[in-house]
Amino acid sequence: MTSMTVVPLSPACAAEIKGVDLTKPLSDAQVAAIKHAWGKHLVLVFRGQTLTQDDQLRFAAYFGELGTRKKAPEKLRHRAEGIQQDHEKVLLVTNIKVDGEPIGAFGDGEFWFHIDSGYSAKPYNYTFLHALELPSTGGNTLFSNMYKVYEAVPPALKAKLKGKRALHIHEYNRSRQASHSGDLSGTPHAYHPVFITHPETRRKSLFVDRLMTVAIEGVDADESAAMLRELYDIGERREFLYEHVWQLGDFLMWDNRCTIHARTDFPKGERRLLRRCTVEGAALYEEPRLPALENFIARLRGVWAAHSDDETRMKAAKPLLEAFVLDDSVKANSRAWPSTEGRKNLRLYVDPDYEFVINAVVRVPGRTGSVHDHADAWVLYGIVDGAESLERYDRIDDASRSGYAEIRLASVTTGTQGKVDLVAPYAIHAEQGGPARSAAVILRSRPLGEGTVLQNSYDAKAKTVTQRYGPEQIPYELRF
Ligand SMILES: [Fe+2]
Ligand SMILES: [Fe+2]
Repeated sequence: MTSMTVVPLSPACAAEIKGVDLTKPLSDAQVAAIKHAWGKHLVLVFRGQTLTQDDQLRFAAYFGELGTRKKAPEKLRHRAEGIQQDHEKVLLVTNIKVDGEPIGAFGDGEFWFHIDSGYSAKPYNYTFLHALELPSTGGNTLFSNMYKVYEAVPPALKAKLKGKRALHIHEYNRSRQASHSGDLSGTPHAYHPVFITHPETRRKSLFVDRLMTVAIEGVDADESAAMLRELYDIGERREFLYEHVWQLGDFLMWDNRCTIHARTDFPKGERRLLRRCTVEGAALYEEPRLPALENFIARLRGVWAAHSDDETRMKAAKPLLEAFVLDDSVKANSRAWPSTEGRKNLRLYVDPDYEFVINAVVRVPGRTGSVHDHADAWVLYGIVDGAESLERYDRIDDASRSGYAEIRLASVTTGTQGKVDLVAPYAIHAEQGGPARSAAVILRSRPLGEGTVLQNSYDAKAKTVTQRYGPEQIPYELRF
């Protein structure tokens, strides 16, 4: 592999990547290096590429599920759709007409700053654009770094807009703000937080654009318009912009969650053809996590940093878990947690440095739990909602026969929200559900689950002990 170099193109954002041939499959290392550069520079430029549609789609697919082109409503189709867009993952960005019919979308002229598919509930994460025909001048693409823009929003305005959402609607006019009469039926639209946290970089970004954002939810129309104008003006300040002057063979890729982009005018009657594909996105959030969880994690990290043995850490963490499960926002959030029937745990967090794990479980009414231990892990178990019981058992045989175990129930404690139990390594126990749905949060000193450490599972009647992995781990984010 030739070595890849990254050359920044402006102080605002964008970098040129050299030494990568996109017509060939890439190694994991190359893809990782490109992702890394992308996170840092937001817009990447590859020059002198000659890519087939398949090359382009293969490359884009390294970064996620390919986006399906969104169809315009029928009555607007002639302004947004063409006749040669025959691949649902590909859109021709062009003014070219054949027999008077556009072969692609977005025609002639200037195009205001926008977010690709910002009007949908899950805007595209990424857009990829390859230049196939260009006018003699103009048609440049401007990109704004919305992380820097976010930082430049005055604190008073930031405070006013914190937690607010904005309405984005589909606009086909390109250089006139979308009009918003109040009736949104038949118009693609979506609400997104004004400020979002980028799910990968975890940086805050401003998520509005002049073309398609029409209102801030719950704010009087005049004030909303004034605030949006101020945001647009900051977003389009020259210092935050990179202007891309296209050359044939250019291949650009950008992240729609932290950039907006616009097109400058170009001579009417000159052909311009770019091939676009995208990667699907997800719903966007201002806060990546419930603040109570973020706070719990920060305090746990403090405990882990201050002590080096798991027993001391877990004893110190007990009051922190008590506070967490007593938090009203956690209890309210837990109502939406999915059932973990079938030996599952929701995995809320794994600490990248200390490896403690925060899990959650949701028990259906009357759920009976198996008798087990957690191998060498320390576990704190805290009830958030409903009532549960913890049964503790003693081992009464001498553990000399493989697969044989006699156990006896030693104690049962029942509790509701705020009850936290510490379960030591190899302690034999069972968690039992109550008459209603219940939810609990578990803090583990180490990951358990498939491929980690084998735990013992006991059958009191059959007098057996078998080994198996802990519950299946289902990633689940507690959102604000
Ligand atoms: Fe666009
Ligand atoms: Fe357990």
